[in-house]
Amino acid sequence: MLTGKRILLIVTGGIAAYKSLEAIRRLRERGASVRCLLTRSGAQFVTPLSLQAVSEQKVYSDLFSLTDESEMGHIQLSRDADLLLVAPATADILARMTHGLADDLATTALLATDKEIMVAPAMNVRMWEHLATRENLATLRKRGVHVVGPNAGSMACGEFGEGRMAEPDEIVAAVERYFSADAPLAGRRALVTSGPTHEPIDPVRYIANRSSGRQGHAIAAALARLGAETTLVSGPTALPDPEGVQVVRVESAAQMLAACEAALPVEIAVCAAAVSDWRLAASANQKMKREGRDALTLELSQNPDILATLSTAGASRPALVIGFAAETEKVLEHARQKRARKGCDWIVANDVSAETGTFGGTDNTVHLITTDSDNPENWPRLSKHDVAERLARRIADSFSGAVAAA
Ligand code: CTP
Repeated sequence: MLTGKRILLIVTGGIAAYKSLEAIRRLRERGASVRCLLTRSGAQFVTPLSLQAVSEQKVYSDLFSLTDESEMGHIQLSRDADLLLVAPATADILARMTHGLADDLATTALLATDKEIMVAPAMNVRMWEHLATRENLATLRKRGVHVVGPNAGSMACGEFGEGRMAEPDEIVAAVERYFSADAPLAGRRALVTSGPTHEPIDPVRYIANRSSGRQGHAIAAALARLGAETTLVSGPTALPDPEGVQVVRVESAAQMLAACEAALPVEIAVCAAAVSDWRLAASANQKMKREGRDALTLELSQNPDILATLSTAGASRPALVIGFAAETEKVLEHARQKRARKGCDWIVANDVSAETGTFGGTDNTVHLITTDSDNPENWPRLSKHDVAERLARRIADSFSGAVAAA
């Protein structure tokens, strides 16, 4: 999958430009967003309107357009992408890239980028075989440019030989291979719970807690960055949806459990939500009135334990289930007991006493208990983002065999 990946597709002037439309469609089907940049000669073969229709994004084409520059500078255009893909890449654009020319928007973006570049050459067989093209391509490869295709076959010009642009499927596969090189969790599915839950008292009141959802959201984002197809089931938070993550918003613990069960099967489950332990035995359908109630007693009943449910889910139990133990005293002792009681594989223990500022704050000091519960890892005080990165890497290592999962 290419969930959340941003591709800047540069379409240059070759008859194969029509295949780029299909490539855009397939890249988007895999979850990527595709922004197109069309060269002047590319526009002889495919129209900006067609590219805009299939990409559902504005198409960029003119370096000196005042409106384009004010909306999205040519430097920003390449910086905002995860990969620049030139398809079709003519002999001309390969030559211009080799020499570092920057006389139109495409070459300027290619020269200004700090991201990697992939090209799908497409040209007549004689142009492909010409020493100039061979040498240009060798130079580009040496600089780290990725090349997909070309294939041999009959050409639009009537000749037969090498130079046909790779098929859209082959281009998409090359893009996926490129991203999976730093995506050790590619092909794996992950589920993360995050945030508090709200348990209704009546239509306007609820029981909640101080969880901000920052840690859980950061973990979902970190797992997605490592390539996992990630579902985040989040209670009410003020946070934006993490990039590349499928977010399911819920309010109560019962809804959170239902959303988690709907996301199965997954290989990785991280329960970072601060799920309310209790809910109203029966919430009121109408707003409760103050009049005549000097004191109020609410009857609560226990909520389902999502972590314990996932840990004992039989055939659909995730291979690695990770819980959090938010404690205010005897942190490690309570965390060990919690791990055993709930049946999860790893537990991340943290001290959430008021003085630590962890609950609702930006930093976290955690202890990771994996298989060897006598020897927890004591991590230094880190930002929640860094805790998430480190945890996601540990998860990836456990799947690559570097660390035993359980
Ligand atoms: N958890 C859960 N569902 C619940 C309660 C907790 O999934 N109904 C998960 C949390 O997401 C966390 C772990 O269980 O991963 C521990 O949560 P915590 O609130 O510390 O544990 P409790 O079982 O509620 O224990 P206590 O509040 O008594 O410490």
